[in-house]
Amino acid sequence: MNSEYKKLEEQFRDINLLGQASAILGWDANTYMPEGASENRGEQLALLSKISHQKLVQSDIGSLLERATPENDWQKANLRCMKHQYSHTTCLPEKLATELTLASNTCEVKWRKCRAENDFKGILPELKKVVDLTMEMAEIKSSKLGLSKYDSLLDMYDPGRRSADVEKVFSVLENFLPTFINEVIASQPTHHPIEQNFPIDTQKALGKHFMGLLGFDFNKGRLDESTHPFCGGTPDDVRITTRYREDDFFSSLLGTLHETGHSLYESNLPKSWRYQCVGEAMGMSTHESQSLFVEKQIGLSNEFIGFLHPKIKEFFGVEINPQTLRANLQQVKKSFIRVDADEVTYPLHVILRYRIEKALIEGEIQVEDLPEVWNSYMQKYLQITPNSDTEGCLQDIHWYGGMIGYFPTYTLGALTAAQLMAKLKQEMPDVSQKIARGELKPIIAWMTNKIHKHGSFFLADDLLKNATGEFLNPQYFIDHVKNRYLAKNK
Ligand code: CO
Repeated sequence: MNSEYKKLEEQFRDINLLGQASAILGWDANTYMPEGASENRGEQLALLSKISHQKLVQSDIGSLLERATPENDWQKANLRCMKHQYSHTTCLPEKLATELTLASNTCEVKWRKCRAENDFKGILPELKKVVDLTMEMAEIKSSKLGLSKYDSLLDMYDPGRRSADVEKVFSVLENFLPTFINEVIASQPTHHPIEQNFPIDTQKALGKHFMGLLGFDFNKGRLDESTHPFCGGTPDDVRITTRYREDDFFSSLLGTLHETGHSLYESNLPKSWRYQCVGEAMGMSTHESQSLFVEKQIGLSNEFIGFLHPKIKEFFGVEINPQTLRANLQQVKKSFIRVDADEVTYPLHVILRYRIEKALIEGEIQVEDLPEVWNSYMQKYLQITPNSDTEGCLQDIHWYGGMIGYFPTYTLGALTAAQLMAKLKQEMPDVSQKIARGELKPIIAWMTNKIHKHGSFFLADDLLKNATGEFLNPQYFIDHVKNRYLAKNK
């Protein structure tokens, strides 16, 4: 191993560990930290991030990256990942990076209030600032990285992903879904809500039971509670959360399954590349494919619902009609709020945001136009109009928190998950029977072999091709929703 490459591994190991420390502090801030400690925690996190940034920028990493000669394919891939991180971080002037962080923090805090008060005008100045600074960042990244402005943002969340590819798959869905959704709604069984109280302690116990079936290692991870479920921590100490409501067991269950999918990806990343860039997960669309695979592909399947049914009786002592259970879990509904949307309408919520944020960054629309453009897309895609901006362009934290270019990864993840399930069914013909028996570990082992253990060795597209023999193809998702949601198939 040449000494330049070796030095790089040492430097990036430190940077990775600093990131891990921040992740644990961040998890704590969102779970157990007393509210009064938030300023103190902010200082700690800012320092860790500063040290990590300095390590990357002020050391000799730039010249080492130029001179290093990797000796095998994994080292080569590691170098590619290091360069990606380095170029995204160092191409920005420090002043702009700091300004953007500050503007995003300020905007996000005020957004919480404005969202609650349906006050889009109130947040306009702060949002404008965030968007202006993001455009400035995109401009710089675009010229330094040789990408379009929007692609230079997308590339931060999903390395190697380009909007030309996103466009190809999104336009297929945009054509297919609106009519399909109307067909499903016209043909689905009448919906009888489940009115039942589910004690929270029992919800926790059943959630953990399913985590165990999926192979979650409680010796190297935890399940806790937070306002918004997330997966944090580190691969060897993975921290997931869910939220509980006494009258709604299914949201906590699906949240737990979703975050368990994320956590299994993290904990099954290649052990021999811990603390190295190539040992990390491959971008947000692949990450989301793992959570959606567990939550939607497995969790909402007829087989899993069949397995869940007696467990509800066993754990809660209540009998729910199996058809009612399925109708509840698989209900398709046109709604305003993305995070509450079912898997069939969800992609349209994402495509709407993708179209808008891309137009914003390319200067085709102004921040002031958001409510109007938003509502016109809602009409076009779902034929509904939000009653307020709280139900419209104020609902998501992303833009207000400075995350532009992130949204596409949700739907790319859903498509990836459907494609992986189609491949799994080919390679493991009794997968449905396995799910029906709650035998989930062999499925996760298959996924570890296809996805988890590769870390960032491949870019997302090549990783999927390597796993399934094909680049991302939206037809698998289309077949999946046709199979699951058209009444004639039920
Ligand atoms: Co997720």
